[in-house]
Amino acid sequence: MQAIKQYIETHKQRLLDELFELLRFPSVSADPKYKADVLNAADYVAKKLTDAGADKVEVCQTAGYPIVYGEKIIDGGLPTVLVYGHYDVQPADPLELWLTPPFEPTIRDGKIYARGACDDKGQFYMHVKAFELMMQTDTLPCNIKFMIEGEEEVGSNNLGIFVKANKERLKADVVLISDTSMISMEHPSLETGLRGLSYLEVEVTGPNRDLHSGVYGGAVANPATVLAKMIASLHDEDNHIAIPGFYADVLELTESERAELNAAPYDEEEYKKDLDIAETWGEKGYTTFERTGTRPTLEVNGIWGGYIGEGAKTVLPSKASAKISMRLVPNQTSEKITQLFTDHFLKIAPKYVKVKVTPHHGGEPVVTPTDSIAYKAAQKAIAEAFGKQPIPTRGGGSIPIVALFEAELGLKTVLMGFGLDSDALHSPNEKYDIFNYYKGIETIPLFHKYFAELTADFS
Ligand code: BES
Ligand code: MN
Ligand code: MN
Repeated sequence: MQAIKQYIETHKQRLLDELFELLRFPSVSADPKYKADVLNAADYVAKKLTDAGADKVEVCQTAGYPIVYGEKIIDGGLPTVLVYGHYDVQPADPLELWLTPPFEPTIRDGKIYARGACDDKGQFYMHVKAFELMMQTDTLPCNIKFMIEGEEEVGSNNLGIFVKANKERLKADVVLISDTSMISMEHPSLETGLRGLSYLEVEVTGPNRDLHSGVYGGAVANPATVLAKMIASLHDEDNHIAIPGFYADVLELTESERAELNAAPYDEEEYKKDLDIAETWGEKGYTTFERTGTRPTLEVNGIWGGYIGEGAKTVLPSKASAKISMRLVPNQTSEKITQLFTDHFLKIAPKYVKVKVTPHHGGEPVVTPTDSIAYKAAQKAIAEAFGKQPIPTRGGGSIPIVALFEAELGLKTVLMGFGLDSDALHSPNEKYDIFNYYKGIETIPLFHKYFAELTADFS
C-alpha cells in the first residue's frame, strides 16, 4: 500500500497531464465530424498502453471505430483480468452552458472539468496508470488484458462482433470495469447491476406540409399535440408505465433485498438541491434507489416539431418526433420491450395522423454476483483504500456489452466505478474529482492483488 501511494505521489503531475492530453481529443462517437479525433484518441490509448508495458497492443479495426487491445501475460497459471472501458464520449452540446470549453480540461475546486472526465476517460485511464504502476514496481500479480472501445456511447454494435470473433484472445477469469458511480467518497459502493435499454424514435405525421396555423388550425389535427398526448398516456397517474405487458417479466425484489438496497445512505434534500428540483418524482410505491436501480422506466430524451427558431412563426407542423428510451431490469429483454412499445404506440395512434416507430439500439440488463472471488477482491481493495466497506448498490445506467460478455465469453463482471452521479455525465460541465482519479489508481492494484491471492486460496 505504501509503495502504491509513493508511486502516485512521485508521478502525480504526469498522471494528471496524460489524462488531460486524452481529454483534449473530442472523441464524440455520435458525430461523424469528429471522426479524425476519435481515431486519434484510439492511437493515443494504444501508445499509452504500450508505454505502460503492455504487449501485443493493437488498434483493431471494425466497421466503425477501432477497439484498442493490449495484454500482459506473465504466467499462464495465474488468473487473468479483462479490463474494459471506452475512449469515446457523448456530444458536448449545449456548448453555451459549459463554464470552460469541454475539450480543454480545467481544474476548479479540485475537480477536472471536461467531457469524458468521468465517463469514461478519467475512469478507464486509471487502469492504464495502475497497470503502469504495477509494472514499474514489479507487483503485477496476475495476467491482464485491456479492451478499450470507441463506440460505447452509440451502442457498442461493433464490439459485439469483435467479442464473438475473438473469444480465444479475450479468455479471462473476470471482466473489470470502472464506468459506474459510487454513492459518495464518504460512502464507497460497488454497483451490482445495470439496467438494460430499448431506444426508439417515433414520428407523427399529420398534413402533407406545414400549414398556416390560422387558416387550418382547429380543423386539422396538430401532430405536435397528438404526439404530446400519446406520450403523456404512456404513464398512468401512479407513474407506472401504461404499456400492456410492460411489467410482465420484471423480477420483483424480495423484501430483504429491498431493505438492503434502501439501507444505503441517501439524502433526499441534497439530491433535490443538486438538481434544483422541489420534489422527486417516480413510480408510486418505490424509493429513489429502487426507481433508478431496480425498476424499468420510460423517458423522452428529445422531442421536436414545428417552428423552434427565433421569435414566432404561425405554423401547424406537418410532423412531430421524439426519441424515447426505456430502461430495463431483469428479466425484461430489449427485443420484447421494443416490440411491445411499437405495437402499443401504433395502436393508440388516432386516425388523423400517421405514426412511424424506428428502433435504435438496445441492451440487456445485468445483475453481477456478490459472492464471487472477484467481487470479494473488489470489496477488500475498496475497504483498504477508503477505510470503509463498500455498500452494494444498483446502477441506473446501462453498459450493454456487459450482458454480452456473459453470454459470449461466459465472464462475470465487477463494476468498480469511482464516479459520482453528480459528476454530470452526459451533461454540460462534466467533472471528475482529482481525488477520485488518484484513489482509483490506488485501489486498482489492490484489486489485482486480492484477486490473485483469493484465487490461489480457493484453488
Ligand atoms: N458509463 C455509462 C453508464 C453508467 C453511468 C452506468 C453511471 C452506471 C452509472 C455509459 O457510458 C452510458 O452512458 N451508457 C449509455 C448506454 C449507451 C447504449 C448509450 C446509457 O446508460 O445511457
Ligand atoms: Mn461510460
Ligand atoms: Mn456514457
